[in-house]
This record gives sequence, structure tokens and C-alpha cells, in this order.
Amino acid sequence: MKHLIDISDLSTTEIDELIEVANDIIENPVKYQEKCKYKKLATLFFEPSTRTRLSFEAAMIELGGNVLGFSEAASSSAAKGESISDTVRVVSYYSDIIAMRHFKEGAPMAASLKSDVPIINAGDGGHNHPTQTLTDLLTIKREKGRLQDLTIGLCGDLKFGRTVHSLINAMIRYENIKFVLISPPELKLPDYIKNDVLDKNNIPYEEYADIEEVVPKLDILYMTRVQKERFFNESDYERLKDSCILTSDKLKTAKKDMIILHPLPRVNEITTAVDDDKRACYFNQARYGKYIRMALILKLLEVN
Ligand code: CP
Repeated sequence: MKHLIDISDLSTTEIDELIEVANDIIENPVKYQEKCKYKKLATLFFEPSTRTRLSFEAAMIELGGNVLGFSEAASSSAAKGESISDTVRVVSYYSDIIAMRHFKEGAPMAASLKSDVPIINAGDGGHNHPTQTLTDLLTIKREKGRLQDLTIGLCGDLKFGRTVHSLINAMIRYENIKFVLISPPELKLPDYIKNDVLDKNNIPYEEYADIEEVVPKLDILYMTRVQKERFFNESDYERLKDSCILTSDKLKTAKKDMIILHPLPRVNEITTAVDDDKRACYFNQARYGKYIRMALILKLLEVN
């Protein structure tokens, strides 16, 4: 039985196959509408979510299956002190596959040790978000036509932003990838990712504090929200929350075919005027999330 806890659980071939299936689902949705008939997806969300939980649920429904679950810890027996292991062990008796989001790093991994069914990490603390990464890869493939030969700007909260950590781990597999890391000093990419992932694999990267000076060289600008919920104190968040804001003015020197991504939700790190720029792909990105999760459910349930 396969789980998806970290993007490294998938080989490059498997990622490419998931993208291929997602593209086929987009083209031929009717072909897939009964693939998961009588199957049940449980969504166990101990942290808030709009896109991930609802796109998982929509994905299973569009595959002909059913969904059950909870959207906050307070409405589950976690509120009475039940452990993750016990919760998952029991829910795996009621469902065929589980998508779990938790505020504790490693919680989905712990869950996978006790589960009778596949576990999908739907985001664990500031650690990883592999299904967002699959969404990002599908979006890049569809919007840029390739996953290699790209200069990718990652901007905002690179310290706590789990989507960025997973995306780096995925993109380093492809040829000729360069990263431009744009953040205030306090929100820089953690050293363990720089050392163990980028340096170890000889992936070139540069670090900047401002978007303007680097935007002309980017093929992709991946914006992120400053992760308020991961800060230890409010005053640090208030000081840093507006450190990287993308405006239409800052895009004047960007390539005409650069794409702007953001895992969403945004707070104010992209002004709404940018939404009308044809390079803004973040709402399409959210749309593609459902299709790649459909492909992932099929894979983990071994449905052909
Ligand atoms: N991108 C993402 O994980 O969004 P949600 O927090 O709304 O699920």
C-alpha cells in the first residue's frame, strides 16, 4: 500500500504519469465519472482549508465516490484528547483512502503507520504540502509547456511556507532549474533545505530581498502568504506581513510569458489589480488542483 506523505514518495515517472492522467481527466471527464463508485474518501482536517479539502472532496465525487470527514479538530474526538494514531486507525475502518491536514509536522507520517488505507498528507505544519506541489507541477506543465529550463522566483515566507519546501524538492528533479529566493532576512528558506536539497544537488540559487530587481529574469514568480499561524508572536507577524507585495507596477519589466503562481489563500501579497494581468495563473492553479487530486486518488486506490 502506498501513501503520499512527502513529494519524494513519488518517482519522477510517477509524477509525470499523474500529470498525464490529470490532463486526460480535463479532456475526458465522463470517462472517469464512475471509476471510484462505492469508494469513500475521508478528509481529516485539523487545520483550516478551502482549496485542499474541497478539491479533494470534489475530486472523489467526480470519480463517482463518496466523502466523509471533519473540517476542524474541535468537531472530532481529538477535542477529547484522542491521539492521531487512534483516530486514523478507526477512520481507516470506515473509508478507502484518507486525506489529512494537521498543524503538527509529521502527523500524516505517524498516521500512515497505523492506517489500513492510503494516507495523503494534505499539509503538515510548516513542513510539506505534496498535493499542492502536484497542483503546481500540473499548472507549470500546462501554462509553460515544460518542467525543465526554468528560472523560478519564490517570494514571501520561505521559512514557514510548506508549499515552497515541497515545490523545491520536486523541481530539482528536472533539468536546468534555477531558483531565485526573494524574502526578508527573517523569512529566508531554512538552511536544511539550502544545504540538504539545493547545495547537495548542485542547484543554483540566489537570494534577494526585493522583487523588482530580479523580476526580469524569471520564467515563474511563485508568491506566498506570510504564514501568520506559524509565528510565535503577533508583533513579528505585523512587522513582516507586508514585506513582499506584488503590484502591477512591479510587473512592468517581467517577461511577457512569465507566469505568476500562488497556492492561495492570499491576504494582500498580490494586489487584486494583478488578477487581470494575463500572466496571473493562480486561480487556474486552484482549478487544476481538483484534477491532479483525482489522478492521485486513482493511483493510490490502484484504479485503472
Ligand atoms: N493552497 C492551499 O492549501 O489552500 P487551502 O489552505 O485553502 O487548502
